[in-house]
Amino acid sequence: MSEQDKYAVFGYPIKHSKSPRIHSLFAQQTDQNLVYTAEEVPAENFAETAKDFFKHGGCGINCTVPLKELAFKFADQLTERAQFAKAVNTLVVEIDGRVLGDNTDGVGLVRDLTVNHHIGLAGKRLLILGAGGATRGIIEPLMAENPVQIVIANRTVEKAINMAAEFANVDLPGFKNLEGLVHGCGFAELENRQFDLILNATSASLSNDLPPLPPNILAENGCCYDLAYGNEPTAFVKWGLENHAAKSLDGLGMLVEQAAEAFYLWRKVQPNTQTVINLLNSERK
Ligand code: ATR
Repeated sequence: MSEQDKYAVFGYPIKHSKSPRIHSLFAQQTDQNLVYTAEEVPAENFAETAKDFFKHGGCGINCTVPLKELAFKFADQLTERAQFAKAVNTLVVEIDGRVLGDNTDGVGLVRDLTVNHHIGLAGKRLLILGAGGATRGIIEPLMAENPVQIVIANRTVEKAINMAAEFANVDLPGFKNLEGLVHGCGFAELENRQFDLILNATSASLSNDLPPLPPNILAENGCCYDLAYGNEPTAFVKWGLENHAAKSLDGLGMLVEQAAEAFYLWRKVQPNTQTVINLLNSERK
């Protein structure tokens, strides 16, 4: 048997990562001969460990918290979406030996929303809670779906305003009327406003916490989506259910979809995500 191609997810901590499972399922499904491991890599060792991995035959790396910004700096070249995100979750060695950095998080989110859950974004009012790295990674792919408005609300108001300003002048081919599309504010400014989709991109979920949201902020038939996921519904998913969201979802589907996009980048084969999502869902009930 030929030697297996080596891939890994780097993160810190990494013990609970579902990525090795997801990629092994993809590999089985598509008959790809590869091995995918989880490596606990502290930030200070990232560059050295990544170089070493590639030197010893590694073909690709996924990077998770807190390494995505370091991976962005590490890559020799970047896809356009990684440049927008200023973060990289997928590294791949190209034929010429250079390392390409990509960010598949945003496309993973959009696919989970639009393809898996049939939540259309065109003409919709979107609210993103949080203005950290997770938000940065999803704005441009969301903009590309033609929503009518994207509001970024954050505890530290300045960060939301700065991020919105950064995306206000983005040059997207075929896009008109971008001015005013993205707006940054604090949570207090959300009073008396309504949104069709609220995305939680804060890390509040991790501590089972919730940003302060005014009542009636969710429009009729509006949906909620938490970029985080867990075995139990997150605080934000519960909030959505309590506030009559048509759908209140967590980020498990996004996780599988971003993995599928990385897998495609590496192997040029598109795995079937729905069977993997169904399996992971069945395991957490
Ligand atoms: P990530 O890369 O996961 O986005 P991050 O860059 O540290 O992580 O950003 C975390 C985000 O969650 C920030 O927007 C943070 O708000 P601040 O910028 O004000 O710190 C937000 N956040 C974290 N805990 C929160 C809480 N309990 N309530 C509201 N927002 C919270």
